[in-house]
Amino acid sequence: MEIRSYAQSLQRSRAARDDSRRPDSFRLRGREWTLLPDVFAPPYTTSTDAAMELLGFHEAHQLARHGSFLEIGCGTGVIAVNAALGGCERVLATDINPLAVRNTALNAKRHGVADRVCAQQSDLFDDLDPHARFDTVYWHSNFVLAPSDYRYTSLHEQAYVDPGYAAHRRYLDQAPLWTTKGGRALLQFSNRGDLESLSALADETERELSIVRSLHVEEGQDTIEYLLIEIARRDTSSPRPQRAGAATSSRQGS
Ligand SMILES: C[S@@+](CC[C@H](N)C(=O)[O-])C[C@H]1O[C@@H](n2cnc3c(N)ncnc32)[C@H](O)[C@@H]1O
Repeated sequence: MEIRSYAQSLQRSRAARDDSRRPDSFRLRGREWTLLPDVFAPPYTTSTDAAMELLGFHEAHQLARHGSFLEIGCGTGVIAVNAALGGCERVLATDINPLAVRNTALNAKRHGVADRVCAQQSDLFDDLDPHARFDTVYWHSNFVLAPSDYRYTSLHEQAYVDPGYAAHRRYLDQAPLWTTKGGRALLQFSNRGDLESLSALADETERELSIVRSLHVEEGQDTIEYLLIEIARRDTSSPRPQRAGAATSSRQGS
């Protein structure tokens, strides 16, 4: 089946959510993490581990070593907690799924960073303090495109697919507005997503996309390419480059 199939992604969501052997904790990168029901479950995917790699946690090339970090869509909180453990002084972890917010608070406590990681429910930026700004804004998104009229049948599905890329459009539009001066707005995407549609949305919202890092991972029969994409405001004073049909620019790493 085609790698970008939303039906296949929904099937993966159901398999992870309804597995009778779904664990209530899991091990990732040397630590034990609590996993609540209906929360995006890292043991069933390579994408959370890829996020750790792309963000460079545990390595010299860590992208967010200091300052403030906003994670949209925190799930179990693995990334938010690692940002705090890696040196970020203030981490705000948000999710539209209230169980994910609870799950993140539990893991922040479990790993001794509850004083630096605040977990809050929000639909993207809608419920955040409008004056807050962050050195890094990051979303490991539900990057698979579903038809615009698709209606979620569980909270869990919302971690996998985005109908009509409505949430991605809002994220591209808003994420650069929440960074400090010199801060970065980042999106973790993959070849399961539709990069051409994302690029078209970037044009509509006057954003520039550049691929900061990429990573290939084997997952069953599929080779997934994970991308860490930076979103910047387009400089509207200079002529627009012709769109090549996909986000392109400097790639570092492999
Ligand atoms: C692919 S999961 C990533 C979870 C976690 N960060 C990880 O890496 O394991 C995407 C997350 O985005 C959340 N999400 C989806 N739509 C959202 C929205 N509109 N606002 C906030 N969070 C959203 C989902 O609930 C899910 O937890």
